[in-house]
Amino acid sequence: MATSRPSVVVILAAGEGKRMKSATPKVLHPVAGRSLVGHVIEAASTLEPHHLVVVVGHGREQVTAHIEEIAPWAITTVQDEQHGTGHAVRIALADLAQRGIPTTDGPVVVLTGDTPLLTGRTLVGLLLEHESTEATATVLTARLTDPSGYGRIVRADDGSVMAIVEEKDADDEQRRVDEINSGMYAFSGARLAECLTRLTRDNAQGEEYLTDVVGLLRGDGDVVSASLCADSDEILGVNDRVQLSEAAAILRDRINESWMRQGVSILDPASTWLDVDVDIAPDVVIRPQVTLRGPTSVAAAAVVGPGTTLVSCEVGPGAEVIHTWAELAVVGEGARVGPFTYLRPGTVLGRGTKAGAYVEIKNSTIGDGAKVPHLSYVGDADVGAGSNIGAATVFVNYDGVEKHRTVVGDHARVGSDTMLVAPVTIGDGAYTAAGSVITEDVPPGAMAVGRARQRNITGWVERKRPGSPAAEAAERAGQDSTPDNPSESA
Ligand code: UD1
Ligand code: CA
Repeated sequence: MATSRPSVVVILAAGEGKRMKSATPKVLHPVAGRSLVGHVIEAASTLEPHHLVVVVGHGREQVTAHIEEIAPWAITTVQDEQHGTGHAVRIALADLAQRGIPTTDGPVVVLTGDTPLLTGRTLVGLLLEHESTEATATVLTARLTDPSGYGRIVRADDGSVMAIVEEKDADDEQRRVDEINSGMYAFSGARLAECLTRLTRDNAQGEEYLTDVVGLLRGDGDVVSASLCADSDEILGVNDRVQLSEAAAILRDRINESWMRQGVSILDPASTWLDVDVDIAPDVVIRPQVTLRGPTSVAAAAVVGPGTTLVSCEVGPGAEVIHTWAELAVVGEGARVGPFTYLRPGTVLGRGTKAGAYVEIKNSTIGDGAKVPHLSYVGDADVGAGSNIGAATVFVNYDGVEKHRTVVGDHARVGSDTMLVAPVTIGDGAYTAAGSVITEDVPPGAMAVGRARQRNITGWVERKRPGSPAAEAAERAGQDSTPDNPSESA
């Protein structure tokens, strides 16, 4: 059965979130790469509401800017002073009326901005219950082993919902009720607007309770329904950092399970953290302690981990990325990265490339089959296909004021410990001698030697460090004055 599209979804997010003890407004804290309120908006989007309003208050500049970024089609309404959930919804409806937006061509759904585990499916269930029972209000409820802190659902003998009683206003018998108000509802827009004008602040918290609308509707003889959420995790609200971590762990398990069911091997799900925007092909293996953030994609049969964090990266088919931190990097098909490799933004590794231990690469392309195996820094460079960058090579890209590019042609051999002082070009098939400082272009096929010639000063230790262990060792070796060429005495 299809449900009608809500005229509006109102998301309450004006509260301070004091218990987070954070400079960041509560609903902006992320789990799985999406803000708390972003998760709620995502779930709400399943209902395809005609309009979505986020009520902002504390930290409104930050929250509004965030909403504009992630859901530019949403409306934000400011609730200057927080006089309760009923007050918040009243202000949202008044703002919509002001904008000439109707709230009666479909149900009004009210959600809170701090429930990241809510799913669209549960909201569809809420609307189904609302419409099939022809209710004017339907409350999403859950049964909790510890219901403390929540409003309790008071049902009549026939099972219908009579009222919601806040814990602070509840008597002992009501407190024993384990069915709680999730704070999420569907309403008839017209009946809601009418009841909101009748709310008082005559309660333990001196607030306009949205929950009192339920009692008012019952008093008017309206039907009030409840939709019991099968998975009580879904309504878990985040109020502090402990609940934030609990929500993150539940979401992690959900995301990991979904990928495993799609053919991804996750060897240690408890230490695997995948953001919601990650995309992973079948037959990928994720080893322990892997974090994939942002829109990272991993192609078929690639292996990632252990100990790897990829932020907005693209890993090609069959590639292997071990003990690596990478951001905005592309790893080509069959490439080998790590262990202990740092790939910074703008790194593009071609097919079959290698970036080995203690290698840092930034803003550079490494051509197909090229290798940077050990202890090197490659910055602002284009390295051609099949080239080898010797151990401890540094692309000296920064003159203290500006960055310059280096070009290494195809099948070049850069000797170990070469300094390539940019801007400089190494031609196709050229070599550089180990330990060279290359400041001038090297033509194709040439060998560039840019280092001082070695000289041996024979007998130096015997003269300058007589009696030292070095001198004794040299003496045992029979080493004194048989000079090799080139050498000299001093
Ligand atoms: C509310 C419900 C309670 C329910 C619980 C579920 C009421 C009176 N009580 O209680 O029955 O079990 O949620 O979590 O509604 N907010 C505003 N403006 C305000 C007040 C609140 O935007 O003036 C927002 C808050 O930011 C929050 C949400 O509304 O996102 C809920 O407010 P909160 O004060 O946490 O309500 P509870 O006391 O938890
Ligand atoms: Ca709350």
